[in-house]
Amino acid sequence: MANDLCFFNKGTFIIKPPKKSPLVLRMIVLAFAMICGVYICLICLNQINTHTKTRLVNFPVIERPCHASGIKKWEIPYVHYPKPKTYSRAECADNPVKFFAILSMQRSGSGWFETLLNSHINVSSNGEIFSVKDRRSNVSSIVKTLDKVYNLDWFSSASKNECTAAVGFKWMLNQGLMQHHKEIADYFNSRGVSAIFLFRRNLLRRMISVLANSYDQHAKTLNRTHKSHVHSLEEAEELSKYKPTINATSLIPDLKLVEERTAKALEYFKITRHIILYYEDLINNSTKCQKLIDVQEFLRVPPRDLKSNQVKIHKGSLEKQVVNWNDVQKTLTGTPYESFFHSDYQI
Ligand SMILES: *[C@@H]1O[C@H](CO)[C@@H](O)[C@H](O)[C@H]1NC(C)=O
Ligand SMILES: *[C@@H]1O[C@H](CO)[C@@H](O)[C@H](O)[C@H]1NC(C)=O
Ligand SMILES: *[C@@H]1O[C@H](CO)[C@@H](O)[C@H](O)[C@H]1NC(C)=O
Ligand SMILES: *[C@@H]1O[C@H](CO)[C@@H](O)[C@H](O)[C@H]1NC(C)=O
Ligand SMILES: *[C@@H]1O[C@H](CO)[C@@H](O)[C@H](O)[C@H]1NC(C)=O
Ligand SMILES: *[C@@H]1O[C@H](CO)[C@@H](O)[C@H](O)[C@H]1NC(C)=O
Repeated sequence: MANDLCFFNKGTFIIKPPKKSPLVLRMIVLAFAMICGVYICLICLNQINTHTKTRLVNFPVIERPCHASGIKKWEIPYVHYPKPKTYSRAECADNPVKFFAILSMQRSGSGWFETLLNSHINVSSNGEIFSVKDRRSNVSSIVKTLDKVYNLDWFSSASKNECTAAVGFKWMLNQGLMQHHKEIADYFNSRGVSAIFLFRRNLLRRMISVLANSYDQHAKTLNRTHKSHVHSLEEAEELSKYKPTINATSLIPDLKLVEERTAKALEYFKITRHIILYYEDLINNSTKCQKLIDVQEFLRVPPRDLKSNQVKIHKGSLEKQVVNWNDVQKTLTGTPYESFFHSDYQI
């Protein structure tokens, strides 16, 4: 996967290149900065006042008003200061931490997306922790697991421990998330967890990837091991040699089912603070940078250039990836799903 496309001046936030007069823009930015400054001061004063008068809310942040500069009033429920049981956060104990969960489906680019996030020095995304059945067998074990992750007591290759500024994991819709949606949404809302939805628009490509991946679980193409994600072009080429046959009879109902699941998930978590990302926008050169900046702003971490070494497995035109392409084409032509044929991309 190509890395290197976003340019950051070290330590500064990205400002879009001026299209109009740079002077006017600079004045606007200056005025904006001044207004923000005054606003933040006002909020600080406000908080100190409420703190001394009434203890309205019991968020830990209130105990340290205006501690980390730039925390806005609406952010307060989403900003945390965990105290891990197993170690000390040391010099970063005063840095605020945001909680997140990537809600996605298999073969939607979430593994790749997670490696991008984890390339940020202050982000720990701990993988698919609910792929282990015991952890999702009932609500109390789900809550116990979540508590451990958000208390920064979860250890995985991705955890950065003391200087983590955003901690989370990825959660597939079929891993207890839909089943226990009510309790999980309550947990997210009361603990101030933000959701990152990651979906794929082209559900036909996703289906091919699901079928191929499930074939490889048995075939173990690469050196007798099953790989869901690869890091070299050779491996990708080897894996993409397998072409699945798509069941044309169940194709439309299957696509509909995925659409319905997506809509339901959005409905269940609509009052949770969230952002919706599409895989297609993350791999498109013309939208990728902006989306990665958006997600870092959403997590309130200092924006950085994010990188991944993963290589895409299936690329190029769809007709070369399926055995019974003619059947598939016949089935979908004239339906709304026809657009899946065209939205091609090259990487
Ligand atoms: C929940 O699941 C865990 C692990 O499977 C089990 O040990 C525990 O007894 C269960 N708790 C309840 C209340 O069912
Ligand atoms: C990010 O991590 C670095 C190095 O571990 C640390 O110095 C910095 O304070 C962290 N930033 C935030 C916003 O937590
Ligand atoms: C296959 O596995 C063997 C033993 O684990 C290793 O020595 C070899 O390099 C591997 N080959 C490839 C192509 O990964
Ligand atoms: C295709 O799907 C239909 C409907 O779900 C099912 O009855 C049929 O057995 C499937 N065919 C194959 C080859 O799996
Ligand atoms: C996207 O950007 C990468 C790196 O800059 C480049 O190698 C690749 O050709 C670009 N792809 C397209 C479709 O423009
Ligand atoms: C990439 O994004 C641009 C801008 O949104 C869009 O016009 C273009 O069609 C996209 N390319 C692909 C291959 O989806």
